[in-house]
Amino acid sequence: MMLGVRGVPMAHLFSYRFTSCIVALIAIAVCGSTVAQTASTAVESRVALTTVSGSSPLQDGLQVQAGSAQIRITALRDGILRVRVTPGASLPEDASWAVLPRHRGNSVQVQATQDSSSVGFRTSVLDVRVERNPLRLVVRDLAGNVICADAVGRPTEFSRGGFTVSKDMPSGEHFFGLGDKTGTFDRREQAYTLWNTDVGPQEAVDPLYKSIPFFLSITGGRSYGLFLDNTWRTWFDFGKQARDAYSFGAEGGPLDYYIIYGPTPKQVLEGYIYLTGTPPLPPLWSLGFQQSRYSYSPESQVREIANRLRADKIPSDVLYMDIDYQDRNRPFTVDPAKFPGFPDFVADLHKQKFHLVLITDLHIAHVAGQGYMPYDTGHAGDHFVKKADGSEFVGIVWPGDAVFPDFTRAQTRDWWGGLYAQFVKDGVDGFWNDMNEPSVFDGPGKTMPLDNIHRIDEPGFAKRTATHAEIHNIVGMENERATYEGLLKLRPNERPFVLTRATYAGGQRYGFTWTGDNSSTWNHLRLATQMLLNLGLSGISFVGDDIGGFNGSPPADLLTRWIEMGAFNPMYRDHTTLGSLPQEVWVHGPEQEAIRRRYIETRYRMLPYIYTLAEEASRTGLPLVRPIFLEFPEVMVSGFDGLDTEFLLGPDLLVAPASFGEMMDDYAVSYPPGDWFDFWTGQRMPQQPVGPNIVQIANSISSGANTKFPEPAKIHPLLDTLPVYVRGGSILPLQPVIQSTDDTPQGSLELRVYPGKNCNGSLYLDDGHTFDYQHGAYLRQAFTCSAQGNAVSVDLGKREGSYAPWWKTIEVVIYDWPSAGAAASLSNSASALNTTYDASQHALHIVIPDTPGEERLQVGGRTP
Ligand code: NOJ
Repeated sequence: MMLGVRGVPMAHLFSYRFTSCIVALIAIAVCGSTVAQTASTAVESRVALTTVSGSSPLQDGLQVQAGSAQIRITALRDGILRVRVTPGASLPEDASWAVLPRHRGNSVQVQATQDSSSVGFRTSVLDVRVERNPLRLVVRDLAGNVICADAVGRPTEFSRGGFTVSKDMPSGEHFFGLGDKTGTFDRREQAYTLWNTDVGPQEAVDPLYKSIPFFLSITGGRSYGLFLDNTWRTWFDFGKQARDAYSFGAEGGPLDYYIIYGPTPKQVLEGYIYLTGTPPLPPLWSLGFQQSRYSYSPESQVREIANRLRADKIPSDVLYMDIDYQDRNRPFTVDPAKFPGFPDFVADLHKQKFHLVLITDLHIAHVAGQGYMPYDTGHAGDHFVKKADGSEFVGIVWPGDAVFPDFTRAQTRDWWGGLYAQFVKDGVDGFWNDMNEPSVFDGPGKTMPLDNIHRIDEPGFAKRTATHAEIHNIVGMENERATYEGLLKLRPNERPFVLTRATYAGGQRYGFTWTGDNSSTWNHLRLATQMLLNLGLSGISFVGDDIGGFNGSPPADLLTRWIEMGAFNPMYRDHTTLGSLPQEVWVHGPEQEAIRRRYIETRYRMLPYIYTLAEEASRTGLPLVRPIFLEFPEVMVSGFDGLDTEFLLGPDLLVAPASFGEMMDDYAVSYPPGDWFDFWTGQRMPQQPVGPNIVQIANSISSGANTKFPEPAKIHPLLDTLPVYVRGGSILPLQPVIQSTDDTPQGSLELRVYPGKNCNGSLYLDDGHTFDYQHGAYLRQAFTCSAQGNAVSVDLGKREGSYAPWWKTIEVVIYDWPSAGAAASLSNSASALNTTYDASQHALHIVIPDTPGEERLQVGGRTP
């Protein structure tokens, strides 16, 4: 059920108090309590926007009056509209924690339109109209297709400081995004509350850790996004209550939302990223394999894990230390008994080419006069959140009594950032901000009281106090921001690595997030895919889930499958809880370990491709893991069976696990349009027959014909093989296996060429950890290929940037090559090149010298 103000169902809110209002007859309906108001209680009134009573064109949009209410619709770009609505005379403060100020202030000139039934404007791609009576905002493309329209008969309403907006929901509309929600991949027919909450993902638990009030809507070939920029408790109902309308609202704060037009899902995402920002380029090591548990402690245990990873040749880069490294769970301390020589210990891990990530929770132990620096300096600087009566708020978390930094204050964020100075000096590489919903064990709803006081001191905002009800959903993001910005100050030429559990829209600007406390079950492995995909569609590219599951202990086959899947996810971290069985790669014996090692090795082989995607994400915000429709929007029209199980890593790799990994049933892979090759064997996959539709089947049965329709080829799931496919028309850069990203790969860069339509690939490289790339120290190269007759040519574009590669030679591997006969040469040399043929993979190998300039490799003799 959808809950409104303090748990009262929204629908009831609007009916039980106000049944006597005759809304339709008047421009706006204002009714409700007439009891005398004290200064501190809000006027309990209901305002429904039913009729346009006036309008004035703006250079960049339109202002509409509906009785005492105002609607301001402006075009930030031709395809991005901002809609602000207020029940009173003036619009609320124009400030945002999510939207970049320089883009929020952007505008384009529009052309005003008007007729007897509506008032509106046009941009170069959208036709925006506000119908006069009943009042409805209707956005169309220029061909007249409705993109997004207020629901008929459900006017926008304000009540008790909150609001509800309803939009038409055609039968073919699907919804994605909204952060880390579980339930189904497609949000249709589901309802959600956005209120950061310390609760682990379950098949149907809500709310969860993050609040990202942005969704992507797809109807056939058209998509748009809607971002409600409101940090209060918000809710979205995608047709759970009504069959033909979806609605959203908040229990407080401004009604301020953006409609982002596609028409493709990628364009929508690009628009949302334009508003909320791109992620930073992470350090390369953070894309390696990460080993964690709650908790490796004491020091000897961490060393044991490090030694075993290296002894067993499990490529790995990161070790995590969870709360038990601390002294009495006090953040920013190290237990001297368990970790007696901390800096030496960190240095030793570095010698083994590991990077260390420490958990640093936001709750500061409330221990005055004990020489605990974070409390003493925080208290002296007045950095903690206050109760309504102005005293420091104290709640119980891991250290016992704790206080909570007020991250809405710039000075507090600065102070927090400075707390990392010692760890940075000790050489710690990255930090993990957990429990930042914020979780308060003894607080109402496991957080702090809603009337707690924050003090906003942030450019763009008026300096003012705000209740926790307003700030709650941004605490995690501002905590991560404080950490990120603090680390930048402490180590200006080192890319920070910060992992957060809670966040808000725009949180991608500060680093990574993960899906929290999942469980060691097959269902949770399945859940992980849709959660990561929806996070990516919510602007968060660098995401992961606890590999193997956090709660419980996975059986051997589940952990193996999870490690296989994780190799194709952005963040690759094995993590588990206190008291569970060991969950490292080796725990189920050598046979399982060998499979797992092979996948982790594959991850390291793919790092040039993955890092190239990471760099793309840092420029564009495009997620690393993508639903099929992001690259192939046409599947939303034609129908696609693998919608919630299959996914793409970048544009070129299709990962197609069985829907039910625990079952051994054969299954058919749904290939997106085009040619696909098996990543492991190099085989071209046969085009699947298009299955019959229901009408064809019915006709066949009723006519007695009982036609045997062609069946798609099925694959038999094998534990040691995760089905992965490569798009025909791609060029993938790979490298030799290394044990850590600190190693220099030995040998050639490999370029795997899969000839096909629109054949291309690219490569990005830099030193992997500094910002020197921003001053030219990077390497970027594009590749294309074309097949004509019996020849294939591969073009290596001119390299950009000054970064020197680690390779001296490039091994080009051309797949789909039918026989050994081949003649290869380079455009800049007359001599023939040696080729070798791998018949089992149908692949021709040619090693060429590395050249930074443009180069064409011409290969003939592709005869069957
Ligand atoms: C909750 C986090 O979600 C989990 O990953 C962590 O291990 C525990 N807190 C202990 O810090």
